[in-house]
Amino acid sequence: MTRTIGIGVIGMGWMGEAHSRAYRAIPDRFHESGLYPRLVVCADQVEARAQSAQQRFGFERYTTDWRDVIADPAVEAVIVTAPNGMHLEINRAVAQVGKHLFCEKPVGRNPQDTIQSVAAAREAGLLTGVGYNYRWAPLVQYARQLIADGKLGRLTHYHGRFLNGYAADPNGFLSWRFQQEHGLGTLGDLMSHVIDMAHMLAGPITRVTSDKETFIRQRPIPQPGKGTHYDVGSSDDPMGEVTNEDYVNALVHFANGTRGILESCRIINGAKCDMSFEVHGTKGAIKWTMERMNELQLQWRNDANPAEDGYTTLLSGPAHPYHRHFNPGWGVNLGYDDLKTIEAYNFLQTIVTGKQGEPGFAEAEAVARVQQAMMRSWASGRWETVEA
Ligand SMILES: NC(=O)c1ccc[n+]([C@@H]2O[C@H](COP(=O)([O-])OP(=O)(O)OC[C@H]3O[C@@H](n4cnc5c(N)ncnc54)[C@H](O)[C@@H]3O)[C@@H](O)[C@H]2O)c1
Repeated sequence: MTRTIGIGVIGMGWMGEAHSRAYRAIPDRFHESGLYPRLVVCADQVEARAQSAQQRFGFERYTTDWRDVIADPAVEAVIVTAPNGMHLEINRAVAQVGKHLFCEKPVGRNPQDTIQSVAAAREAGLLTGVGYNYRWAPLVQYARQLIADGKLGRLTHYHGRFLNGYAADPNGFLSWRFQQEHGLGTLGDLMSHVIDMAHMLAGPITRVTSDKETFIRQRPIPQPGKGTHYDVGSSDDPMGEVTNEDYVNALVHFANGTRGILESCRIINGAKCDMSFEVHGTKGAIKWTMERMNELQLQWRNDANPAEDGYTTLLSGPAHPYHRHFNPGWGVNLGYDDLKTIEAYNFLQTIVTGKQGEPGFAEAEAVARVQQAMMRSWASGRWETVEA
């Protein structure tokens, strides 16, 4: 049985395109589900982007007014891929009309906005989804199962990090990403993935102490219509101040007693997309990075044969969650866009079953509470407790 769901997307930059591509892929990759996303309307304030997206992805129409997406009776689910500073206003408008709502992380300009977005969605009884896409790598899902099944024993410590060089070029434009008035820096952006992953694998974080730094303090001011994620200007352009953080680190305690170290940076050299974790337990350890998303390092204690006690490498294959939807072969690799397709599929499953899946806005609120504690620690220089 086919189930058609009308989709409207707001903000046709990198993520708007990635989500549109993902919804188009569902009738192919998850054909047995009978899910058929109908791409109704896409919105961008830059008309050329909205128009190009309509043509490329096959939306029925485009608009430059995001309110028009929410008002369209054919739109059942609204996908928010606009800059962080717009999330709360859009999310509240969606809550008022009671449509299903997917919002890219961090679901707000700052943790307070996120918590208000969550409250608006909860009061309206919305079904929600959030773009913590790194969860969806088949081997990450497999790692989650191994930990939940106790294969690592009692967890002792957790390293989580997202080291990314997307802003390593000092001439990367001063887009909304670098301005406090539009939201947090790497704490809202990269660290939100790190915290969510830590929560999924090792459980809730209860205490933190955290530090931050802004290494590149001035950037070229973009021309109107420029300044999406990877656009670069020139050192001859007029310069403006970077007003949020490039780098954040934290020591953390988990509710189950695990100790952790988290780190995120957007201006780093060397690492390109090192969204990674290493989880250690009393019986073994697991290590994964997005830079090698189709590999999982596993170590089991081997007291009988210490010569073979060390990390070995698993390759992603059809025995791991979701892999078979993309390829029937072992080591035949998936990529970032495939994670977006799995994410979109799971959000549509939430809609058709009426049962709130993960990650939804509740998971985003849990991340925001940890971010709030990190910000309090920046001010106090001390350990801070995460509010429930
Ligand atoms: N999950 C992930 O891996 C991931 C990766 C990148 C970005 N994101 C998130 O996705 C969101 C968008 O990021 P991006 O990289 O696509 O940004 P982007 O700057 O490339 O795109 C944002 C788009 O929104 C449009 N826009 C701005 N104001 C608008 C308005 N008033 N009405 C309609 N459109 C408007 C811009 O013109 C632009 O096309 C952010 O919340 C970001 O944190 C998530």
